[in-house]
Amino acid sequence: MRALTAERYGAPSDLRLTEVAQPEARAGEILVRIEVTPVGRTDTATLRAHPFFARMATGLLKPSFPIYGLEFAGTVAAVGPGVTRFATGARVFGLSPERFGAHAEFISVPVDGPVATIPDHVPTHEAVICEGAWYASGTTDALQPGHTCLIYGASGAIGTAAVQLAKIQGAHVTAVVGPTHLDLARSLGADAVVDYTTGAAERIDTAFDLIFDAVGHTSYFAWRRRLKPNGLYRATDLGPWWSNIWLGGWSALTRSKRVSVPFPVDPAGFLTRLRDLMQQGLIRGVFDRSYAFDDIADAYAYVDRGQKTGIVTVSVAQDG
Ligand SMILES: NC(=O)c1ccc[n+]([C@@H]2O[C@H](COP(=O)([O-])OP(=O)(O)OC[C@H]3O[C@@H](n4cnc5c(N)ncnc54)[C@H](OP(=O)(O)O)[C@@H]3O)[C@@H](O)[C@H]2O)c1
Repeated sequence: MRALTAERYGAPSDLRLTEVAQPEARAGEILVRIEVTPVGRTDTATLRAHPFFARMATGLLKPSFPIYGLEFAGTVAAVGPGVTRFATGARVFGLSPERFGAHAEFISVPVDGPVATIPDHVPTHEAVICEGAWYASGTTDALQPGHTCLIYGASGAIGTAAVQLAKIQGAHVTAVVGPTHLDLARSLGADAVVDYTTGAAERIDTAFDLIFDAVGHTSYFAWRRRLKPNGLYRATDLGPWWSNIWLGGWSALTRSKRVSVPFPVDPAGFLTRLRDLMQQGLIRGVFDRSYAFDDIADAYAYVDRGQKTGIVTVSVAQDG
């Protein structure tokens, strides 16, 4: 099968589509024929080994995993011994956060991990919405009905999911986006939208229970006066001078929980919950553009620019 590999950390030009052995469905696993896979900021950060300490998980000097790719959707091509949860031909979606391997024609995954059937009404190519939603849920799960939250950068994969998850939690959502994304934020359920290019964000004079920097372009110091006394500041990125990390350390020491960069946990549990939300039509993906598998390195280069809207996908199967 063909798969995306890289012998070293680097840039999209270091990526290679190569012929590798097709995996097998071993005991407790299914083999998935991948139809679509997204390229996200985790993939580009993994390629660049950024931040440096991420190498502790992905390999110190070079990638320790053979194939890139975190997320997939496709059909079950084979089931391993002992598997009853899925049948051959079932449409499935999921994450492979430990072994990666989703930027390939096939992937084998354990059935007790983050994999689930795609709800009937959701097309396979629209089922790759897990990564951003998984990251967002680590922040939005703190919201209670009636809380107010501000999502800064609500047009990326994490931000678009965060708006929807915050609404599901019953919060009042203010979304800060660029001028071309105001209608998008409203369509996702935002109660108020603010254009970050006009200076209106700086003039906001209300206080929030939660402020979430979903795109890594602002800081706690810019927003701390708009946090309620027990308000929380959450971010997807380290912040200027790693401020979100050391402020987060201080918050943990003082038990205030005021600042943190949440690291997502329990992907299998989250996927089950996400499937329920998709089934009920409560959450959907926002899709930017799609690339052919042959052009997957171009997808990495585009995502690396940090200007995509929602999710960028790659069609892997010939008929995808
Ligand atoms: N290290 C990792 O493994 C990892 C993994 C996942 C995510 N992350 C972090 O999570 C963040 C979000 O990732 P993502 O995939 O959801 O989205 P993304 O691709 O980083 O976000 C793109 C969106 O951000 C908006 N944007 C750009 N500059 C902005 C600004 N100054 N203010 C407000 N919005 C702005 C853009 O809209 P406009 O065109 O309107 O500006 C665009 O729609 C990233 O910063 C990334 O570093 C890190």
